[in-house]
Amino acid sequence: MSSQVVVGTQWGDEGKGKIVDVLAEKADLIVRFQGGDNAGHTVIVEGKKHVLHLLPSGVLHKGSLCIIGPGVVCNPFVLLKEMDTLIAGGLTCDHIIISDRAQMLMPYHCYQDELEEQAANNKIGTTKRGIGPCYADKYARRGIRYHEFIDFDHFKARLKEVLDFKNKLFTKVYDGHAMDYDTMLKDFEAIRDRILPMIKETTHIVNEALDQDKTVLFEGAQAAMLDINYGTYPYVTSSSPTSAGVTTGAAVAPSKIKTVVGVVKAYSTRVGEGPFVTELLDEQGEWIRKTGGEYGATTGRPRRCGWLDLLVVKHANMTNGLTDIVLTKIDVLTSIETLKVCVGYEIDGEVYDYIPSDQALVAKAKAVYKEFPGWNEDISKMSEYDQLPQNCKDYIKFIEEFTGVPVSMISVGPDRVNNIYVKEIK
Ligand code: GDP
Ligand code: IMO
Ligand code: MG
Repeated sequence: MSSQVVVGTQWGDEGKGKIVDVLAEKADLIVRFQGGDNAGHTVIVEGKKHVLHLLPSGVLHKGSLCIIGPGVVCNPFVLLKEMDTLIAGGLTCDHIIISDRAQMLMPYHCYQDELEEQAANNKIGTTKRGIGPCYADKYARRGIRYHEFIDFDHFKARLKEVLDFKNKLFTKVYDGHAMDYDTMLKDFEAIRDRILPMIKETTHIVNEALDQDKTVLFEGAQAAMLDINYGTYPYVTSSSPTSAGVTTGAAVAPSKIKTVVGVVKAYSTRVGEGPFVTELLDEQGEWIRKTGGEYGATTGRPRRCGWLDLLVVKHANMTNGLTDIVLTKIDVLTSIETLKVCVGYEIDGEVYDYIPSDQALVAKAKAVYKEFPGWNEDISKMSEYDQLPQNCKDYIKFIEEFTGVPVSMISVGPDRVNNIYVKEIK
């Protein structure tokens, strides 16, 4: 049995999509277990760029079944648009199924996200994809699940009931407008024939595949620091993007999870609000943004950039139980004279070796840095570990030593083929 979980270890955008695409070559099933179309996962194959929001990044491999799992909040309109883009590009989409337990992310969730961000004093900087409101409805037990779309009379009644409630909220609390039931219903009627064949009970499909020794790849979206419980709350997303999310979001027992691959970007980025201890607000930060192409795959927002924060990666290891690290975008650091890596937070004169829960404390933290000499060689075409410059190897070695997790693969460019394989990911 091979169950591989791929998770982000920082604030997202580590390159999970690329790594899932690489690992998907050997996978029978690829499963998204949390999040929604707030994710933006980029896969580049033979120079062609694909940005995926809801579809698992293994979708480009025809042989693997792609599952949108029970823990996902799935906007059906976005899903179909994404499928249409792939189909227009000559790819097939007949290997995609949606869990009947997945939450249907509705047009009113997107509007609510917008209204809540507008009204908030303390803005989160969400992607405005309706993620928070949809998960809130799920836990308030008013969410609509995909199986409820099958009996259309039932769906109509549920839509009416929830939309009436939302319209009161929009008009009376937020001073917004009401949304029209008939228009919304028509939009759902129009997509029904395409969505219904994809709705399946998926938990037995996933567990049977694991029991039959098939390889199942679980694709995390977002990352450890955006985790609803253990991230930089409240500046987080509304799901559990850690390996534990696979248990709740795909109905896989913890004992069945063998391999947890943490994707670590060689520096840090963050989109949206919230403390960011190693953030570079100077020319160096701007240089990394430009060189690394650090602009959001979902919203196009410039990503905040900074030095690698190993307290963050250590935290991700603790919350995920990483068996392997895949290091990405180390090619971007080429030609920086001195690299810095954060190994502690100094807060009010005390040095922390873990991340405090209170973000007011984190906001005061000064990074304790260890410095490394950089390298000038172009590493983006290298395919063997031994080809790497010694200074680059030292940087990688330190990541392994500090986290206690082996770096099994090094990604040196955005294309599927730009990799250095160090140790087999089992
Ligand atoms: P994800 O959300 O974790 O899947 O990451 P994104 O796709 O949002 O952002 C990662 C960006 O970096 C994408 O534009 C990728 O094409 C690109 N990328 C991934 N790995 C590498 C790498 O090793 N080197 C470089 N230069 N770019 C990479
Ligand atoms: P991938 O999968 C980076 C951030 C948003 C915001 C916070 C809450 O591509 O790594 P939300 O819309 O989820 O309620 O926003 O989380 N965020 C991400 N940042 N990558 C992502 O996904 C993100 N998904 C959400 O910017 O700060
Ligand atoms: Mg992304």
